[in-house]
Amino acid sequence: MPLKSRISGTGSYAPENVLSNLDLEKKVDTSDEWITERTGIRERRIVKKGQTTSDLCLEASKKALEAASLAPKDLDMIIVATMSGDMPMPSTAAILQKKLGAKHAAAFDLNAACSGFLFGLSVADKFIRTGASQKLLLVGAEVNSRFIDWKDRSTCVLFGDGAGAAVIEPARGKSGIMSTELHTDGSLWDYICLPGGGSQHPPTAKTVRDRMHFIRMKGNETFKVAVRTLEKLVVNTLKANNVDPSQLAMLIPHQANLRIITATAQRLKLPMNRVAVNVDRYGNTSSASIPIALDEVVREGRIKTGDYVLLEAFGSGLTWASALIRW
Ligand code: UT7
Repeated sequence: MPLKSRISGTGSYAPENVLSNLDLEKKVDTSDEWITERTGIRERRIVKKGQTTSDLCLEASKKALEAASLAPKDLDMIIVATMSGDMPMPSTAAILQKKLGAKHAAAFDLNAACSGFLFGLSVADKFIRTGASQKLLLVGAEVNSRFIDWKDRSTCVLFGDGAGAAVIEPARGKSGIMSTELHTDGSLWDYICLPGGGSQHPPTAKTVRDRMHFIRMKGNETFKVAVRTLEKLVVNTLKANNVDPSQLAMLIPHQANLRIITATAQRLKLPMNRVAVNVDRYGNTSSASIPIALDEVVREGRIKTGDYVLLEAFGSGLTWASALIRW
């Protein structure tokens, strides 16, 4: 039987500080009603002063390692999917390696924005299946709150901070990752971007004045592409693996907007009790949203061995991705 990879442990962490829609009403011209109706978000978590992306990674990773009964020194690879790392260089994965004490692990970051965890899962799957890695830690983590324009009501109500982690190990038998599918359309890069601070617009007083170091999004245009693309993606992924939607135990979607999640579930005729939803409590945590939702579903005992679990994401790039897992 060919070698596969499987998720052997999950963990997640969200900062304690809760920012509710009512709190946001005091900051910008918005309302709890608008945010809830248009997005499904009720509150989000925000880091405290001094808390960084690698700090969130550390908490989620410790839980995932414990669930997989592994110690940090057992790891041979760490991948952190993030677009809001501690600093541009070195990687947040390198800083996490130090904080964990995982000195045998090669560590690097990967940026596919909100699709980052699934891009990372696909890379991890290849490393494990080729035998190049035996014990891999994959983390999706974001401190979005430091890259948000708190004066822009069209974006500041959407995002939150958090981290989710998964340990990936070799598997033989029926359980394991069945397929991963990755897509990018770079022609739509400006739908969601953070234009300042890179080689195109290095930081200057002007880039700061022009608020170029914050996330910008063409929300409505992105929404339409997301719904259309994800509906097609989930149908195609199941078809390619000969799995009927009725056989699906759980859909774990990226958590950007409850309306997008519901549309995808309806396309598969899935009842909402078979869909993981936490956008109401965390908002959009970008690359962390899927691993946080996965960890919650695992810990609540909502998936069991042998179940089909479908993960899907959509984000800046534009990128979109899916993974089908036999749990
Ligand atoms: O995670 C990566 C992928 N991201 C996504 O998939 C996000 C996709 N987009 C969305 O989720 C939705 O497009 C949003 C939630 C961002 C926006 O919802 P929408 O239904 O597309 O609203 P809209 O942008 O078309 O704006 C409708 C109205 C506008 O006012 P007018 O022009 O109709 O007078 C906005 O100015 O709502 C206004 N608006 C707000 N009003 C109150 C925008 N933001 C707010 C706000 N509070 N926070």
